[in-house]
Amino acid sequence: MTRRLVLVRHGEAAWGAENKFCSWVDKPLTQKGENEAKECGELLAAQKLWPDVVFTSVLGRATNTARIILDEMKKVIGKEMPPILSSWRLNERHYGSLIGVNRSELAAEHGEEKVRWWRRAYDARPPPIPRTHLHFSEIYEDQRYADVEPSQLPVAESLRDVVSRLKPYWAETMATTVQNSGITMVVAHGNSIRALLKLIEEIEDDVIVGVSIPTATPLLLSLTSDLKPMNSHHFLGDPKAIEDAIRRMDEQGKAEPSQ
Ligand code: 3PG
Repeated sequence: MTRRLVLVRHGEAAWGAENKFCSWVDKPLTQKGENEAKECGELLAAQKLWPDVVFTSVLGRATNTARIILDEMKKVIGKEMPPILSSWRLNERHYGSLIGVNRSELAAEHGEEKVRWWRRAYDARPPPIPRTHLHFSEIYEDQRYADVEPSQLPVAESLRDVVSRLKPYWAETMATTVQNSGITMVVAHGNSIRALLKLIEEIEDDVIVGVSIPTATPLLLSLTSDLKPMNSHHFLGDPKAIEDAIRRMDEQGKAEPSQ
């Protein structure tokens, strides 16, 4: 049996709309983000990709996107809701001191090349979040991390670091579930999805730099029983709209982003 993995980045969230690094700050979906999630659910229902199990991060923009997608799919498919498992290991990459910073302002100050490097290079780790950061307590006093060994909670991460924190969860929990299910859905974040693709497809360090994941655009992977990819991942939906969404995302790091 082919195992199918559907990967979805959450819909647009409040700080995404303001072009700020959101990362571990738990900002809600915007109205546009909720609509994107609905459309994603309609698309997945039309493709009959009802998941047997769903994984999400613990952040609200991912858990709510998953809920909206499933609600939409249920209207068409009408099955019982699948189990939803949430883990901090699927959270967005921790952007350290860049959390809350506007990408265009950062590019105006440090140059677009540096911002592109911070955002996409495999080994780029921003400076750690200082204790004085406006959102420090909100992140580290969040009860959803109460059971996590404090030394495991990141203060800044490169994509390589995200792969490292995701690896044990993939190996110990997710992989077995994917093996035992026809369809597994993961609703997470741009960089935790890039990390997952890196792990599963064994993408080279210099190739993952060019991979960007637009909001609420499902990505499909077909895997063998030993979880080897049968072909490379592809997005579902209108190719032109997806290409435009990726371009807009990449342009968020310009000193003056296009509208
Ligand atoms: C964030 O943390 O704000 C985004 O989800 C990811 O941002 P990026 O596209 O700049 O990596």
